[in-house]
Amino acid sequence: MHPAGLLVFAREVLTAGLFWQICVLIILLLLLCECAVRWWTTKRDDMPISLNSLFISTIVPFVRNRYDFLTWGFQSTGETVFRFRLLNKPVVAVSGESGRSTFLTAKGFDIHSGFKDLLGGIPLVRGVTSDLHGKTIAHIYRRLAMVQTQGSLSNLIPQLLADCCNTIEAWGKRGRLDPFPSIYHLIFQLTVRALTGTEIADDPAIVARLKHLYDEVDEGNTPAAILLPWWPGRGMIRKLLATKRIYDIITKAIDTRLKSGKPRDDTLQMLLDSGDDNMAVVGFTMGLIIAGARSTGTTASWLLTYLGAHPEWKARAHVEIESLIFTHSLTPYKAGAPLSDLSVALAQIPLNAWEGSTPVLDALIHETTRLAQPHTAMRKNVGPDMHIDGKLIPSGHYVVYPFSDVHLNEELYPDPWKFDPSRPRPDARYSYVGWGGGKTTCLGQRLAKLEMKLLSAVFLLGTDFSIVDNGGKALETLPRPNWNDILGCKPPKDSCFIQYHLNY
Ligand code: HEM
Repeated sequence: MHPAGLLVFAREVLTAGLFWQICVLIILLLLLCECAVRWWTTKRDDMPISLNSLFISTIVPFVRNRYDFLTWGFQSTGETVFRFRLLNKPVVAVSGESGRSTFLTAKGFDIHSGFKDLLGGIPLVRGVTSDLHGKTIAHIYRRLAMVQTQGSLSNLIPQLLADCCNTIEAWGKRGRLDPFPSIYHLIFQLTVRALTGTEIADDPAIVARLKHLYDEVDEGNTPAAILLPWWPGRGMIRKLLATKRIYDIITKAIDTRLKSGKPRDDTLQMLLDSGDDNMAVVGFTMGLIIAGARSTGTTASWLLTYLGAHPEWKARAHVEIESLIFTHSLTPYKAGAPLSDLSVALAQIPLNAWEGSTPVLDALIHETTRLAQPHTAMRKNVGPDMHIDGKLIPSGHYVVYPFSDVHLNEELYPDPWKFDPSRPRPDARYSYVGWGGGKTTCLGQRLAKLEMKLLSAVFLLGTDFSIVDNGGKALETLPRPNWNDILGCKPPKDSCFIQYHLNY
């Protein structure tokens, strides 16, 4: 700016109101900090290269176009490790085999601080779902393990099947659905069934309300709400209101159960019988529904989309389930029978067969979690300082690893966007991280896989379905999963539909 311009600018600021003067002062202070940080960090030879952009220009792409932003970062710097700032938070993005191995195994990389500060996805109730101590988190994870014991999961199978059948029947005998809201909604129902009590899971209106509130929480995760969590902006207020309403629904279900004095055979009862107080039950339910339903819903929506678009895999999965029914069910299912009969036949297949004798479904789920899970893992380095590929990750910095680095890597997965469940598994370390790896693996994996297998079985045997465009014509090419849509991985709106009719 010409010095004369500076004078004009200074005069304008001096004559503007106090509000604008404070704004300008804050911006100048932030710019000064940015210069100081840049000057200090460039003094160290082992500091990762910094993105050539101001801290304010990284926030929106990091939240709204994360896949494009991080891919561009690696390409434009030409490095496997680079850094940028999200306002006051220094972040290092890592890639490559050694980067991912260190990222996944480093003792000092803490997942909980990483996600809380950079993602903010879990409804915030202090001491219940936020600011949790290690002991509380460990307690929630122990309870999640109890939900997934052999006995509990076996008990859940008929209930989950009944939920699948009821929901599909409620859609009507035939129809055309956008898989992304519809299948996600169905999985939400299954996850609520698995993690809460009958007071909630048996009432479709409450389940729909809960889903709406969780969507509100997600939508409240705006760049401003994540980076300025103390700022009472629109996003933050929406998120707080939704959180309060979720909290009320869960506490009401607990009160109803306690007042009725009637024990039920469900997770809520298990939590209450284990001596958990209301706060612990609320923390368990609120945190895990958000951790579980979204990723399972996304994966299941794509799983059925891929199945519907790949008749050869659909046929193989069909044969696999039929043969399980033939082996295990006393009342074999006849094609064309109502969904309730199918549900009875499928419920007789034991858990160990669902888990150990479904290689086709396993391959389909494996390929779907590779191709349609746009996860970026986040950690905070709580110390000590670390090095990745010779670059410093100072204690206190955040570290992110985008799964696209490995799952869409052409060297590991040639023609990476192609859906091919029979593709060879690469040899490289942590070349598949669909359920995490190293220090952190998914603790809801058994439940998620079971939900997806039961849902696929009902769809495959109970309906005839295919993937079409919005005019009902068979789609020749499927749209790609959108990795910038960090929650839903949804393709463009109205780009593909599931067309189905019930088989009876
Ligand atoms: C298809 C469905 C799912 C997929 C693909 C999936 C994937 C993952 C991945 C990749 C991680 C590691 C994240 C990281 O390293 O940053 C993870 C962690 C986790 N998942 Fe899942 N997940 C699914 C469903 C579920 C469900 C249903 C639950 C619970 C009901 C759940 C609970 C968790 C928890 C608690 C962690 C954190 C583990 C820890 O802190 O050590 N997930 N999941």
